[in-house]
Amino acid sequence: MTLYFADLIKKKRDRQELTSDEIQQFIAAYTSGTIPDYQVTAMLMAIYLNGMTNEETVALVKSMIHSGVTVDTSKIPGFKVDKHSTGGVGDKTSLILGPIVAAAGFYVPMISGRGLGHTGGTLDKLESIPGFNTQQSLERFVEITREIGTCFIGQTKEICPADKKIYALRDVTGTIESFPLICASIMSKKIAEGIDGLVLDVKFGSGAFMKTVEQAKSLATALMNIAKSYDKKIVSVISSMEQPLGRFAGNSLEVFECVEIMKNKKFTGPNGEDMYADTRELSLQLSAQMIHLSGKTASVNEAYSLAVEALESGRALQVFEKMCKVQGGRLSELPAAKKSHKVTAKTAGYLHSFNVEKIGLAGIILHAGRMKNDDVIHPTAGIEFHCKLGDQVKAGDTIFTIHGDEPELFAEAEQLLTLAHEISLQKPPAHVLINTVLN
Ligand code: URA
Repeated sequence: MTLYFADLIKKKRDRQELTSDEIQQFIAAYTSGTIPDYQVTAMLMAIYLNGMTNEETVALVKSMIHSGVTVDTSKIPGFKVDKHSTGGVGDKTSLILGPIVAAAGFYVPMISGRGLGHTGGTLDKLESIPGFNTQQSLERFVEITREIGTCFIGQTKEICPADKKIYALRDVTGTIESFPLICASIMSKKIAEGIDGLVLDVKFGSGAFMKTVEQAKSLATALMNIAKSYDKKIVSVISSMEQPLGRFAGNSLEVFECVEIMKNKKFTGPNGEDMYADTRELSLQLSAQMIHLSGKTASVNEAYSLAVEALESGRALQVFEKMCKVQGGRLSELPAAKKSHKVTAKTAGYLHSFNVEKIGLAGIILHAGRMKNDDVIHPTAGIEFHCKLGDQVKAGDTIFTIHGDEPELFAEAEQLLTLAHEISLQKPPAHVLINTVLN
């Protein structure tokens, strides 16, 4: 295959269409370890640069699904629904909406990923809980989902092994922001997990892989067409990543924020707003879409009320605690950083814009994410946000707090964070969290 695969790379490099067989052989060979990472990197870059036709993308999705098995969820007696985000900074809604939707009586079997590029990953967040095991057998995955309502795992050798390898390679080879690669990565995981319905949170803005609303809508349409061809109910929420979500970005910090929200706590920032409000609201909106996909509610508003009730009653928190326990996690031992450092405003004015990608990269410098495949995550490292877009600040006010156990990294992260926000005398237009919902 090594010599033959070089020909396939050249074919894609020269903008020719790969056949379904060639794509299937590529994915099978990489999954079984017959072709090396360096050749697959070249192929991914050729795909990134030259794109894929619809037929090629469909073949890639199919090959990646069949690189492993599809979960048989027939023993789970109800509507199975999941959510997947295209990635953001501080984007922690999965940890809240899984428990909310489960507490509302539905089932959320979730296969998630690790951090990708500057964005955070659900698996890394959960693994900041000491003992939490995201590598359950498929049998256990189904059992836990049936018993508790939700279970979170990663791609394994059994399920989506191709995505497990390609995802890790894309993370460090500049090949993330590609429609066909994103479609195949997301849809292979979601089709393989045996769900009936899926809600996509497709992000746009400086912290998203899709920088504009138009790009996000096109990606959503491509993802939805694939889901529909597999008879899945699907809806896409197009949401903003022009500012980080919530109060924290960083693994154990984000778990802490989720638990606080599930305890119905608020955290008032210096400008009087609740710093958890956007995380809470997006989690509820996505939960409502998930519940409504079941066909059991007359409207999204009714589904939203069910989500609010599941959250406010404390039942979502109970589900989360049970799920952590059964997956080996010791939530009461969630670690906290030993050191912190404030990053302050240099001038007075309104917080006009964030460069959220730079904020994510500052997190990687702190070891909240990976620069290379084998980098070890520091679970307590991350960034706290004290302001939201449009807030008025004075010179010297704290904009960010860096948290971590490696203070020698703080100066470099501070430099990036200083470049990652703009203060202006002009008040920016009000930030809108959800742009639109596509059916
Ligand atoms: N989430 C995924 O699972 N894959 C991508 O490529 C992007 C976001």
